[in-house]
Amino acid sequence: MPNPYISGTGFYLPPRIVTNDELSSYMDTTDEWIQERTGIKERRYVEKGVGPSDLAIPATEQALKAAGLTVSDIDFIIFATSTPDFYAPGSGCVLQEKMGFNEIGALDIRVQCSGFIYGLSIAEQYIRTGNFKNILLIGAEVQSTAMNLTDEGRDTAIIFGDGSGAAIISATEENKGILSTHMHSEGKYLKELWLEAPASNAGHPRITREVLDEGKQYLKMNGKEVFRHAITRFPEVINEALEANNLTSENINLLIPHQANLRITQMVQKRLGLSNDQVFSNIHKYGNTTAATIPIALAEAFNEGRIKEGDILVLAAFGAGFTWASAIMKW
Ligand code: UT7
Repeated sequence: MPNPYISGTGFYLPPRIVTNDELSSYMDTTDEWIQERTGIKERRYVEKGVGPSDLAIPATEQALKAAGLTVSDIDFIIFATSTPDFYAPGSGCVLQEKMGFNEIGALDIRVQCSGFIYGLSIAEQYIRTGNFKNILLIGAEVQSTAMNLTDEGRDTAIIFGDGSGAAIISATEENKGILSTHMHSEGKYLKELWLEAPASNAGHPRITREVLDEGKQYLKMNGKEVFRHAITRFPEVINEALEANNLTSENINLLIPHQANLRITQMVQKRLGLSNDQVFSNIHKYGNTTAATIPIALAEAFNEGRIKEGDILVLAAFGAGFTWASAIMKW
């Protein structure tokens, strides 16, 4: 059976930098508060007219180049986003058209912060069964347009940003690549982090003046509750991946956690007894880009020489749903 491995990575951030000081001019917050509670210094916002499929193009081009492949080599597209360009069709189809891929399958998945790892798990299965040789996996988000940039939204708006990352999952006969993936969900907490509108159960039409007046078009988060679950689920799902492969945290060369909040990452690091060298963080530059944080971090870590052949790499995520997931691989 072929093994699935990551043959190329890429990432792209929109050029507009939004500093904590800029946010302080819209809402009652400070650079000091944001840095202390989240580790975030700045994030990126798109300009009007730019969607996740647009952000995905440069990331995909880099990933293809790194893998030594072209658009026509890709057999399948998996597009992880919680903020698709349109309600329908999915951003995978939009990207297929924009980049001129063959008439291959394009699957959108909406698993929020865990989207990239869920996508990796799907890609893993298709490669192992021999169905596909090269799969494009994207994590791309435009969260900025779902932020309430007033005092009312300050606990959520300070965290999120826009961005995209891409990876090519390819088949190899070598003894390397994805060892296992692990996925979980707990829908009873769906309202702790959710975006309610537009909703198909909202009546006719889906969007009304009342819906907008009530602010249902904004992402809402019960930060404390999400934080509480995150610091338990991250170590749990990382240990699940380690145990499934008879490994311990000492074997991890690099952990790339979903970049939710620097304090969450630090607590996870402490609970697992990992050193600074074993954990990657770039949240200070980009904030929380939901499904895009892991592929952006993966590409950056690789470009910075933090991942070498034979390394044991662990990816882990927790977010809305709640959903959480991990992936472990030998690079
Ligand atoms: O990626 C998806 C998963 N998401 C996450 O993992 C996010 C998890 N949660 C968090 O990262 C944190 O809960 C936040 C960063 C969102 C909030 O930090 P916190 O330390 O949990 O703050 P808090 O919500 O407990 O609020 C503490 C205080 C409150 O004031 P009082 O009630 O103590 O007077 C808030 O009103 O800080 C206030 N506050 C702010 N102050 C200045 C809330 N947001 C802000 C703000 N600026 N932006």
